[in-house]
Amino acid sequence: MRTETPPLIRLEEYRPSDYLIDRVDLDIRLDPHATRIDATLALYPNPAGEAGAPLNLDGDDLRLVSIALDGAPLAQDGYTVTPAGLSLIAPPRRPFTLRLVTEVDPTANTKLMGLYRSSGVYCTQCEADGFRRITYFLDRPDVMAVYTTRLEADRDQAPVLLGNGNLIEAGEAGAGRHFAVWHDPHPKPAYLFALVGGRLGKVETRFTTMEGRAITCAVYVEPGKEDRAGYALDAVIRSMAWDETAFGRPYDLDVFNVVAVSDFNMGAMENKGLNIFNDKYVLASPETATDGDYAAIEAIIAHEYFHNWSGNRVTCRDWFQLCLKEGLTVFRDQEFSSDMRSRPVHRIAEVRSLRARQFPEDAGPLRHPVRPRVYAEINNFYTATVYDKGAEIVRMLRTLIGPQAFRAGMDRYFADNDGRAATVEDFLAAFAAVTGGDLDAFARWYERPGTPRLTVSGAYEPGAARCTLRLAQSQPGAGGQDGPPLVIPVALGLVGASGPLTGVTCPALRDGVFVLDRPEAEIIFDGVAEEPVPSVLRDFSAPVRLELALTDAQRMRLLAHDSDPFNRWQAAQDVALRLILDPDADRTEAFAQALGRFLDAEALADPAFAALVLALPSEGEAADAVPSGVDPDAIHRARFALRAHLGTALRPRLERLDAALAPLDNVPYSPDASAAGRRSLRNAALDLIAAGDPETGARRAAERLGSASNMTDRLAALATLALIPGDARETALTEFAERYAGEPLVLDKWFAIQAQIPEPGTLERIVRLQGHPAFTMTNPNRVRALIGSFAFGNPTQFARADGAGFARVAETVAALDSTNPQVAARMLTAFGSWRRLENSRAAKALEILNWIKAIPGLSRDTADILARTRG
Ligand code: ARG
Ligand code: ZN
Repeated sequence: MRTETPPLIRLEEYRPSDYLIDRVDLDIRLDPHATRIDATLALYPNPAGEAGAPLNLDGDDLRLVSIALDGAPLAQDGYTVTPAGLSLIAPPRRPFTLRLVTEVDPTANTKLMGLYRSSGVYCTQCEADGFRRITYFLDRPDVMAVYTTRLEADRDQAPVLLGNGNLIEAGEAGAGRHFAVWHDPHPKPAYLFALVGGRLGKVETRFTTMEGRAITCAVYVEPGKEDRAGYALDAVIRSMAWDETAFGRPYDLDVFNVVAVSDFNMGAMENKGLNIFNDKYVLASPETATDGDYAAIEAIIAHEYFHNWSGNRVTCRDWFQLCLKEGLTVFRDQEFSSDMRSRPVHRIAEVRSLRARQFPEDAGPLRHPVRPRVYAEINNFYTATVYDKGAEIVRMLRTLIGPQAFRAGMDRYFADNDGRAATVEDFLAAFAAVTGGDLDAFARWYERPGTPRLTVSGAYEPGAARCTLRLAQSQPGAGGQDGPPLVIPVALGLVGASGPLTGVTCPALRDGVFVLDRPEAEIIFDGVAEEPVPSVLRDFSAPVRLELALTDAQRMRLLAHDSDPFNRWQAAQDVALRLILDPDADRTEAFAQALGRFLDAEALADPAFAALVLALPSEGEAADAVPSGVDPDAIHRARFALRAHLGTALRPRLERLDAALAPLDNVPYSPDASAAGRRSLRNAALDLIAAGDPETGARRAAERLGSASNMTDRLAALATLALIPGDARETALTEFAERYAGEPLVLDKWFAIQAQIPEPGTLERIVRLQGHPAFTMTNPNRVRALIGSFAFGNPTQFARADGAGFARVAETVAALDSTNPQVAARMLTAFGSWRRLENSRAAKALEILNWIKAIPGLSRDTADILARTRG
């Protein structure tokens, strides 16, 4: 039975396991409906645990076939079995072996946790707690064992059999069956266990590590799609090389395998030596993937590979420490992508995503510290806060101690914790050790929910040639917690009328960074010959909301002259945001002129950056900036009016850019950052032209759709056209669907574009699309493409005044909950900002949340999100 109020698990209640496991020997006979798992666990009492305690193994949805202790069948009265596990009442007080035979039905596993089948391929997902759906186990990350896995299957059904570690044996098993034995010498927690069995094609290559180990790297995909796996394989090799040079971390097995499957709850999983991926983050060809897809594949391949050290070699003691591996690994993949691409452009992308996903989370009912202290369902804590704010904390640490000390601290962390299940304290201790400093105050970032506010004001005294900046930190009222001050690295500087100022001194800065570790502080700059504009929070040096009152003209000075690219971009964003929230014709005109000058001067020198400057803050970001009573329709109207105005005012420039970038059509597609940047600017230009002149825009977009030689341009044109009601749009959508009828990942883009059309008719369209033959509720990518894009990417229609948008998403959550609670709960988080909506919409949202609450037997995943969201 499911429970209404799930029990809470608390960090302060952590206790070491009473038993540990040395070795796990698995013999798994794969069968579509009755897979047999014969598990032998070498257990021993943990000296740090309670002597003589019962042995409580976790289990979920298992059929126990047999159980034996040290080779002898266990009597019925020696153990108890419940839906949550199996307990041995009086286990031996010495090392012993437990042999458990269980049976599971992978075909019936719709939760996609544990062992399941995706398009006929056997695969697993064990993080956070899926291994207990394979066998009874101490399914917690601080129990680490050495695994040997024998896999056996029908050769026709599963010619490829993959496990963790290295292949040590393979052969025939008779009756059309074959086997493979995999051994992983590195002790690991159960959440890193994986197996794959199926018909798969592969691409592979070799890599030699800095230690001279020869590795075979392979990417496995659906047969026939091998030609779409090359980019992912290349990203594997680049990741391996980068982790050696950037962090001194070599790979540690003879093989590294990546497998793409089409049904996957999340993005990908770092199982030891056998990463399993959502195929969306592996498969790419110019015809089917966009520049954004290529970049995401590169980042996620890197992320999972980097986990081999930050996650696998050093794992987490308990799930409260999730940011220890996720925040750190996101930081590492961001650094990798920045090295592979344009660092400033990538930084802007990181911050946009942080603001779009993490800031609202941190300001709403689902807010939690980067290291939570309590959870009901851990799978609901794979959040933007743990991942992305977690990464920002690591970045701040590097800023505070400097790159050399940071690298030394990382080396120390890996050395001290290799083979261990560690904590955030262990991580910080490594840096404290190498710097000789104390990071106790800095550690507050892990405990404090909410986005801090940083308020800055400046004063200039011409006579004294002196500029004084006053900085103050505070926690926002809603949701913030007061407490001792945070340690906030604030990168800043002063900008003169025509560029950097010379002869300025400021002893309070080190490498351009001021460390605000008090509630407030004053910084004095001397030798300031002219009235400067302060450029604060350069490179977004801390995850805070900056309040700094500048005029549009001052901001335009930053756009033109700041040495920090991030703040140049930010300045334009700030002006645009104010114009969305508080429209004004004269100021819009002045903004357009400043953008025009910027485009003339440098658009073609750095097209990717220019495209970002032209991209207005999203409706979500504008909503986030409204104190309360959000009316999504008003925000939408204001933003579209601003777009239209800029499109008209900048028209001649945009045409020139379009023409200058047109030769791109004649060169073969390459996904590299500079080619992608040129495409993004050209597509941004088309989009703005269309905003100002929809008729021309529709015609040009339709032409572009016809002539495009790659998915990036085709999809951009379709997205532009999708915003212009009319026959051209409908024809284009129909043709696109016909052209890509056999391409699920491309159809996802088609679903997503339509789900985001900001028109009342979209709801009808969603209903229609849910009946489309290519739509299915059993595939998470399809659900996310249609329902997720609507709920998270269409603020006006999701939050329709009549509540029908909320209702549609709620019905999907309800329908999905019994088959795939993880994805259902994730969809439900779209309601996270409901309290900030204006009253009548908020009332509708609450009504719908109450409707969900009345559904009997909700999963723990959904019940947890619901309880926290309703508050
Ligand atoms: N560790 C995976 C990552 O790379 C995420 C897996 C989460 N899966 C889950 N069911 N909670 O980020
Ligand atoms: Zn991860």
